[in-house]
Amino acid sequence: MKIAISGKGGVGKTLLSALLIKEYSRRGFSVLAIDADPDTNLASALGFPNPDNITPISEMKELIEQRTGVKPGQPGSLFKLNPRVDDIPDTYSKMHDGIRLMVMGKVKRGGSGCYCSENTLLQALITHLLVVNNEVVILDMAAGIEHLSRATAKAVDKLLVVVEPGRKSLETALRIKQLASDIGIVNIAAVGNKIRNPGDIDFLTSNLPGFVFLGFLPFDSSITEAEISGGNALEASQTILLEIESIFTQLETSRNPQ
Ligand SMILES: Nc1ncnc2c1ncn2[C@@H]1O[C@H](COP(=O)(O)OP(=O)(O)OP(=O)(O)O)[C@@H](O)[C@H]1O
Ligand SMILES: [Mg+2]
Repeated sequence: MKIAISGKGGVGKTLLSALLIKEYSRRGFSVLAIDADPDTNLASALGFPNPDNITPISEMKELIEQRTGVKPGQPGSLFKLNPRVDDIPDTYSKMHDGIRLMVMGKVKRGGSGCYCSENTLLQALITHLLVVNNEVVILDMAAGIEHLSRATAKAVDKLLVVVEPGRKSLETALRIKQLASDIGIVNIAAVGNKIRNPGDIDFLTSNLPGFVFLGFLPFDSSITEAEISGGNALEASQTILLEIESIFTQLETSRNPQ
């Protein structure tokens, strides 16, 4: 099962990713978590020790040069298009509490430099992880969907779009759905987050009639309070944990229909 989690900035992609990662792990699945957001924070959401000391793949300059043949940041035109990546997950992932995590990191775009080699390696790696790995792979994506290529799209079993009650979040969800269908992702579903009242659910479902909703997570200030006090935000809300169980069940049922 390969699940990618997307949506507008700040809607709760990392929270949902971390909750699902914990739920799959708790149920005995071997889980590989991928932080594919350049603004990395999945490690900290999952409670990895010293999350700021994890070196993202995009900053492993020697590795990038060794595999692509071009020094990172250099405008090389002769980099390998299909660098070897199969050994990278075992060597460069971090393990905590039974969960394996790979942090992809930032790839700067535009400007004067070319970042082809970093991009090439990250893209090859994500595609490889999604295609070859037989674990549950959960990918916390950057806001938007530009990072999903056709090759990646083919390997994702489920694209979850997180939405919150608000126009911008709806617009992003609709753009993601359009782009997803353009690149061949058919299995797409939504999860509502930061729900404050039944009207929020009506707002989301009536404005996004083309989406199947797997669940709705309430807004719960104990989550942000836990973040501030250094507590466990993932276990701060019992209602959210129950909803995650239900989302897990639906994901598993859609994978193994009886
Ligand atoms: N259901 C909720 N109740 C209360 N606070 C929430 C809820 N969901 C998310 N938050 C808070 O909203 C903020 C953004 O959440 P999160 O980091 O998961 O979003 P994101 O989509 O990953 O953001 P980014 O686009 O920056 O990666 C966090 O401070 C988080 O604790
Ligand atoms: Mg995030």
